[in-house]
Amino acid sequence: MVEIDTMPELEQALAEVAAEMAERTDRGSVATYIPQLGKVDPGKFGIAAVTNDGRVILAGDADQPFSIQSVSKVFTLTLALGKIGDALWHRVGREPSGNPFNSIVQLEHENGIPRNPFINAGAIVISDVLLAGHQPREAIGEILRFVQFLADDDTIVIDREVAASERATGHRNFALANYMKSFGNLHHEPELALGVYFHHCAIGMSCRQLAIAGRFLANGGRNPTTGHSVVSTERARRIGALMLTCGHYDGSGDFAFRVGIPGKSGVGGGILGIVPGVASLAVWSPGLNENGNSKLGSIALEKLARMMNWSIFAP
Ligand code: DON
Repeated sequence: MVEIDTMPELEQALAEVAAEMAERTDRGSVATYIPQLGKVDPGKFGIAAVTNDGRVILAGDADQPFSIQSVSKVFTLTLALGKIGDALWHRVGREPSGNPFNSIVQLEHENGIPRNPFINAGAIVISDVLLAGHQPREAIGEILRFVQFLADDDTIVIDREVAASERATGHRNFALANYMKSFGNLHHEPELALGVYFHHCAIGMSCRQLAIAGRFLANGGRNPTTGHSVVSTERARRIGALMLTCGHYDGSGDFAFRVGIPGKSGVGGGILGIVPGVASLAVWSPGLNENGNSKLGSIALEKLARMMNWSIFAP
């Protein structure tokens, strides 16, 4: 692992990667199944690195908010574990699915228990957990405030138009939620759990805000600037393990192979990457690859990791 004091080259590396990505014409396809996401300019590219010693390094469109979508599942998982701890694992598995993020096929065989917290079904169960004792509005507020706290930025908001757009076209998520309800794995009405889910997916953040929010995962569960503990070291490691094995759906193996660090993607084109002990990274490029993960975002992280010799497998 690279030592922090050898990192002045990081600014150079980020600038180089951003310049190279700006030139590329093969940018993937923007998600259109949520109509509001289809309006985003595929030419955008931003990247941010926040080091454990407190440096914030940005390149490209790193200050432009985008829809974080499934990246939010890292934050809802963290909150749900805080609420019910390991009891969560009775309702959600911890195995890669090897299937697309919105797949329904495994749910019947596995009695309505989703494979992991990052596929849509798993995240909908987590929304249901976060609803306990709350109205949907309160649960959504709790998630948003947690993200604002992590990013140390209360200007972060939910894009209501994206949430409404997803609700209007979210038939597959309704199917997943209803199916899990039939197995007794949702404790609230599907409509309510989905309300929470659609809204946390619609949180808008910039690469800067997202990388800052991820700091606790790069630093053993503790905010490296304030020293405040967000989760235990063990929990931070476990969330990282789930990001590595499940964070890119059926592209998770390839991401681990090419990039070598835990990451979580979203169909808005964002990826949160964690270099344990070193830095939290966020990248955004709206065009997606065939697995629904940011095409240039994955390539950019692969290049950056190689330039910096970052890998959780590095000696
Ligand atoms: O439920 C959905 O389809 C979206 N709100 C989130 C999917 C997503 O971000 C998958 N990530 N690559």
